[in-house]
Amino acid sequence: MKGLVTLDGTPSRVLAWLCALKYAHHTAHWLVKGPSAHGDHLLMQRLYTAVEAEVDVAGEKVVGSGEADKPGWARVLAGDVNALVGAAMAQEKDPLTRSARMESAFQDELEAAINANRSRGGPAGIDNWLTGLADVHQTNQYLLHQRLRGES
Ligand SMILES: [Fe+2]
Repeated sequence: MKGLVTLDGTPSRVLAWLCALKYAHHTAHWLVKGPSAHGDHLLMQRLYTAVEAEVDVAGEKVVGSGEADKPGWARVLAGDVNALVGAAMAQEKDPLTRSARMESAFQDELEAAINANRSRGGPAGIDNWLTGLADVHQTNQYLLHQRLRGES
């Protein structure tokens, strides 16, 4: 999934990634099974619920930045989300591992987006938003990593 929808510091791309993460975490919430299913179900509920709130903020930033005024904006967004989810599903069958891999890829993309925004002198609000997302998603990465430790 990495490289398919590269974060360029624009809110639309961040929104696409967050929608894809929400989909991955929510489906994992439904699909987990086995001895740890109840704990995993609750962990993934925590993650998808938090991402839902981030999706809403991202959507408002997209509209506020004027990106949603571009012709075909919603279609491009749907295509980006579909590309990310499709790649993630194709590359990893286990729902928890898939969510963990997506969180890792998102961290890489956020780092690139933060650097791109800073190097072009982009708005401080975007920098603050992106670094805040990186902070929260680092915790998501940690939680999933700890859960999966010893399984591979
Ligand atoms: Fe549920």
